[in-house]
Amino acid sequence: MEPLLEAAIAARENAVAPFSKFRVGAAIEDEQGRIHTGCNVENASYGLTICAERVAVFKALSEGVRKFQRVAVAADTDDLTPPCGACRQILWEFCGDCEVTLVNLQGKTEMFRMSQLLPRAFDASILG
Ligand code: THU
Repeated sequence: MEPLLEAAIAARENAVAPFSKFRVGAAIEDEQGRIHTGCNVENASYGLTICAERVAVFKALSEGVRKFQRVAVAADTDDLTPPCGACRQILWEFCGDCEVTLVNLQGKTEMFRMSQLLPRAFDASILG
């Protein structure tokens, strides 16, 4: 399996999901080929939960990375788990029209572009 997908599956192991028990891992490849990972982190005040994808993006941004080329999202579902709406907005903002590969623990994959997942996106170009 590709290292990016393996990284997403490995990151999922660190998920902090005591409430939903739904564990998600994400991995993002930057323009230099480095991989940044994240897992979902839940909170007893449920709305404070943050998804794996946003953790991965924010970790990388906080280390100075600004250009990304590929994203992988891993969960243990037969119907592969796509990024939620909030994560799509964040991924579009920072990764643009990059490839997003969904993967499960059996190695099933599906690949999308961000423009398929978030058509007619709102972004800074609309602010003028
Ligand atoms: N979750 C993610 O981490 N990424 C997604 O794209 C979908 C949802 C998490 C949030 C929450 O901890 C759990 O999955 C159930 O919604």
